[in-house]
Amino acid sequence: MTVYFIGAGPGAADLLTLRGRDQLAGCGLCLYAGSLIPQAILAHVPPGVPCINTAGMALADIVDHMARATREGHDVARLHSGDLSIYSALAEQLAALRAAGIAYILTPGVPAFSAAAAALGQELTVPELGQSLVITRTQGRASAMPAGETLARFAATGTTLAIHLSLAVVADVVEHLGGYYDRDCPAAIVQRASWPNERIVRAPLAELVEAARTLPARRSAIIFVGPVLGQHDDGVLRRSALYDPTHISQYRWADQDRGSDV
Ligand SMILES: C[S@@+](CC[C@H](N)C(=O)[O-])C[C@H]1O[C@@H](n2cnc3c(N)ncnc32)[C@H](O)[C@@H]1O
Repeated sequence: MTVYFIGAGPGAADLLTLRGRDQLAGCGLCLYAGSLIPQAILAHVPPGVPCINTAGMALADIVDHMARATREGHDVARLHSGDLSIYSALAEQLAALRAAGIAYILTPGVPAFSAAAAALGQELTVPELGQSLVITRTQGRASAMPAGETLARFAATGTTLAIHLSLAVVADVVEHLGGYYDRDCPAAIVQRASWPNERIVRAPLAELVEAARTLPARRSAIIFVGPVLGQHDDGVLRRSALYDPTHISQYRWADQDRGSDV
């Protein structure tokens, strides 16, 4: 029997992967991580199969549920919001399952930052403006940040930041970034991306705190900062060389001949 860890996606039920949906349909117990998992996704669990919200549950209790279900011959679906690869508290669950000799499989999901970029209607990398994306967060009650991972250090690169779990401290975030990005550096906050109550605010960095006051305080959001955020407007669009006719004729077909992905 297997525990399937499933990235449930950012919220919209149709952003669950087909693989995740099928794993939910085959499970004999579903454990889900709180209010970021919509009911419409839990609806893929067969009728009568227990669905347990693990918000506020200790690790040992979660693992007990998994161990009991697998012992009784059931596969378990363990849902986390977005993708499993960031901020999912996965490592300790996997270690406990390994220690107990219980098999597990990871199924990726659409991360919230991707859904947020789609909501913004833009790409997060743009040639010559920002070719890297820093996925980060600020310190929480349960998670101190490693010493080298300060906002100031990331900001010193000048690239695009996607700051999670930080709406409540947006004023601190802006203060830390102030010395590195211009006051008029484009920024945005996307709250509840892909949910019916999705909200977006865009503002220059210097006005972001004021703009954030229009958002409900406790709902999950990502703060984006960086020059690429300005690229949603045709007036300022910087074009990629990829579809430039010169580039296509000189390099692209040659690359394809070699079987390269460009
Ligand atoms: C515990 S982390 C989970 C991240 C998740 N594993 C992912 O791949 O996106 C929760 C944080 O992710 C962000 N988040 C999750 N869902 C979101 C959404 N639909 N819209 C905006 N931000 C979201 C917020 O910063 C929130 O505080």
